[in-house]
Amino acid sequence: MKRAVIVHGGAWKIPKELQKPSRKGVKESARLAMKCLMNNGSALDAVELAVRYLEDNPHFDAGTGSVLNAEGEVELDAAIMEGKTLNAGAIAAVRNIKNPISLARSVMENSNYVLLVGRGANKFATHQGYEIFTSLKVRRETERWKRLHKEYKETMKFSEIGGTVGAVAIDATGNIAAATSTGGVPFKPPGRVGDSCLIGSGLYADNEVGGVSATGDGESIMKIALSKVVCEYLGKGLNAEKAAQESVKLLENRIDGRGGVIVIDKGGDIGLSYNTPKMACAYMKEGMDKPESQV
Ligand code: GLY
Repeated sequence: MKRAVIVHGGAWKIPKELQKPSRKGVKESARLAMKCLMNNGSALDAVELAVRYLEDNPHFDAGTGSVLNAEGEVELDAAIMEGKTLNAGAIAAVRNIKNPISLARSVMENSNYVLLVGRGANKFATHQGYEIFTSLKVRRETERWKRLHKEYKETMKFSEIGGTVGAVAIDATGNIAAATSTGGVPFKPPGRVGDSCLIGSGLYADNEVGGVSATGDGESIMKIALSKVVCEYLGKGLNAEKAAQESVKLLENRIDGRGGVIVIDKGGDIGLSYNTPKMACAYMKEGMDKPESQV
């Protein structure tokens, strides 16, 4: 099987000053993941690596750089899934974990559960030896929080903000994996959990059809289980591009939702679609010497 990876850095109205760093970020993430695949890394290793890189990049709403909730704190959601066994791990509303995607993988590999939340997820992280950071806040988000706090404005429109990150990869053995990570939406109430960590909504991977990572308006994405919808379209024989397009059409037509998806089908073909002003995205297929990107 020819190896491939696609990553996104969120579907939203990416402002001019963030376009260049976003493009650079997704390109580097795709390049690192492809290098991992070409060194015979698994699809799971590749998506974890891609998302870790984006979590550490302060230009994205995931890990360091995440938006703040109404209490001025960072609360993180993330999930990872692999398509051979349908094994999955997820965490929600965790605080002060630098790379939530790795914690999600630890839940998958070192617990009997799929989703751990809040205090329990943080406790699990400590048991697993994760460092608990004092803060993941960046100045841009602290300033945004101050503005929102002054206005007491709960959320902004999703077309305005939504830098969730995600990755999908297929390795040489045909295994597919998907991963998604986010700080969620600005000024969300403490305990609000979005689509990113929900299997079938923010991501899905099944070797029999393909893999998906979604981004955008979490409340809408959850209602139609967007990533599973993409997989159902793939199962009906649509290719990756068409399945991506049809699922975003459904998101818009059924509930007026905004967002985007990245897809790799079981044959290694890549697709993407979004109905927001922009989506930061990059992909690399075996044989390409550098990633293709868009913002
Ligand atoms: N799609 C990210 C969120 O709603 O939390």
